[in-house]
Amino acid sequence: MELLNLPGKLIAAMSPPSQAIPSQTLRFVLNGRVEAIDQPPPTQTILEYLRDVAGLKGTKEGCAEGDCGACTVVLGELGAEQRMTYRAVNSCIRFLPTLDGKELVTVEGLQQPSRALHPVQQSMLDQHGSQCGFCTPGFVMSLFALYLNADAADRERVIEALSGNLCRCTGYRPIIDAALGQWKYAAPLRWSRAESQSAPHVAALEGLARGAQPGASLKYPGFHAPRSVQELADALQERPDSVLLAGGTDIGLMVTKQLRELPALIYLGEVAELARIEERPDGVWIGAAVTLTDAWPALLGRFPELKEQAARFASPPIRNSATLCGNLANGSPIGDAIPALIALGARLELRNRAQQRTVPLEDFYLGYRKTALAAGEFLTGVFIPRAADGRLLASYKVSKRVDQDISAVCATFCVHADGERIVSARLAFGGMAGVAARAHHAERALTGVGWRPAGIEAAVAALGADFKPLSDLRAGSAYRLRSAGNLLRRFYQSHAGARPALRTADALQDVG
Ligand SMILES: Cc1cc2nc3c(=O)[nH]c(=O)nc-3n(C[C@H](O)[C@H](O)[C@H](O)COP(=O)(O)OP(=O)(O)OC[C@H]3O[C@@H](n4cnc5c(N)ncnc54)[C@H](O)[C@@H]3O)c2cc1C
Ligand code: FES
Ligand code: FES
Repeated sequence: MELLNLPGKLIAAMSPPSQAIPSQTLRFVLNGRVEAIDQPPPTQTILEYLRDVAGLKGTKEGCAEGDCGACTVVLGELGAEQRMTYRAVNSCIRFLPTLDGKELVTVEGLQQPSRALHPVQQSMLDQHGSQCGFCTPGFVMSLFALYLNADAADRERVIEALSGNLCRCTGYRPIIDAALGQWKYAAPLRWSRAESQSAPHVAALEGLARGAQPGASLKYPGFHAPRSVQELADALQERPDSVLLAGGTDIGLMVTKQLRELPALIYLGEVAELARIEERPDGVWIGAAVTLTDAWPALLGRFPELKEQAARFASPPIRNSATLCGNLANGSPIGDAIPALIALGARLELRNRAQQRTVPLEDFYLGYRKTALAAGEFLTGVFIPRAADGRLLASYKVSKRVDQDISAVCATFCVHADGERIVSARLAFGGMAGVAARAHHAERALTGVGWRPAGIEAAVAALGADFKPLSDLRAGSAYRLRSAGNLLRRFYQSHAGARPALRTADALQDVG
């Protein structure tokens, strides 16, 4: 391997892609240098590798569950049209072998050849955005991802970019000021937008590519990253006890929090066929390896009413790893995408080695964390049909915090009404039972009475027949039931024009 000394940066010029790369060797670029690791432990996190093996201790561990952002790093990938995409991810829950063929940037990588700070760091310094310093590298890396993806940002975008980073001492104002000002500095030699898209960067990543043939997959005992759907199906057929790993934002916590030993992992992230979004005349198909960062815009193009749901789903670093289908497959009763897609009539595409089938999402959940997936079967994608014109659609999330919190109750309603006559009603809830589900009694009650206040009240009353919610640390049973009813009222009020729309907080006060 040859190392090129580029303007202020070392990038490895790799052997051409045609040359065989050992299947058990993970290779990625770390702060400008190629790392080659033979059979890394399948569930070793990126954070563990950085701190314990690479000696890069700038990246911190706070929560080890994707919640605080202290461990934020930036992941570069070669995407369409030979352009690099750079996104912030949480290194504490992402497994090292998922870095194959990618570029990883940590806070240490931002230093300039002259030892000057990068504009993102300089701006933090100038605006006094750091106090304890522990959370600072994570903030810097979230801002760095923003820096590489924009020429400027308004306050709203900055706040969104920082919604996965916690600071408990400085307060956010100086950090936001630093973010707003970070583009005012001269472009750095290393890590400007232009430099990050430069030919050497692209060439270095191209050099890491394994090629498309199945034999070129990263594969060793305990880890396999197939490169085609058939290879994936074969792998799962041979080892049906394997765990399918998508973004790992649920699975990562099994290791870091539950300290579980996992069976062999089959990673979906390298299957190009599953990383596609397909716009079809009758709807949109989202593949199983598509991240939430890419999936939400595809959904919002057709269903802008889901905007708040998309923005409040975890944080950007989580959404940059997590997949939409992982949320559906995980089958948590509080998976936020599930009620939304049930209300929209989504259908899952499942397959195994020999055949494929389609299952309406609402029929996929058989009980608490129990799904209709058979041994050897996996999701290839989800199809969301086009909604008929004139739909009334709304989606709500009730949680203690606005950002980065788990729902107490989550709901999406999709109703077609012709005057007061209800043509169809799909009222889907999460957090109300062991699985996310439609409220069939409430739907019938609403349809029977019609799209008027009495119809909504009938639906609210019928919710008790649909759900007997649990009490847990997020909310009590009665609170959940009353919140669910109030969300229905809010839905009606905001669409009937009878009263101005209530904000969620107002709706919650109604529960008394
Ligand atoms: C800090 C934090 C915040 C979060 N916030 C939210 C939130 O606001 N709302 C919310 O709903 N969730 C939230 N989550 C949960 C999680 O991010 C989502 O459930 C995410 O969509 C899971 O996708 P993944 O790709 O990471 O799945 P993974 O963790 O890779 O997998 C999840 C499960 O699905 C299975 N699986 C994945 N893909 C397939 C497939 N194609 N076929 C069959 N099985 C498959 C896996 O085997 C595993 O059992 C949060 C998680 C964290 C850590
Ligand atoms: S250590 Fe808190 S998000 Fe990773
Ligand atoms: S600077 Fe560390 S918590 Fe804010």
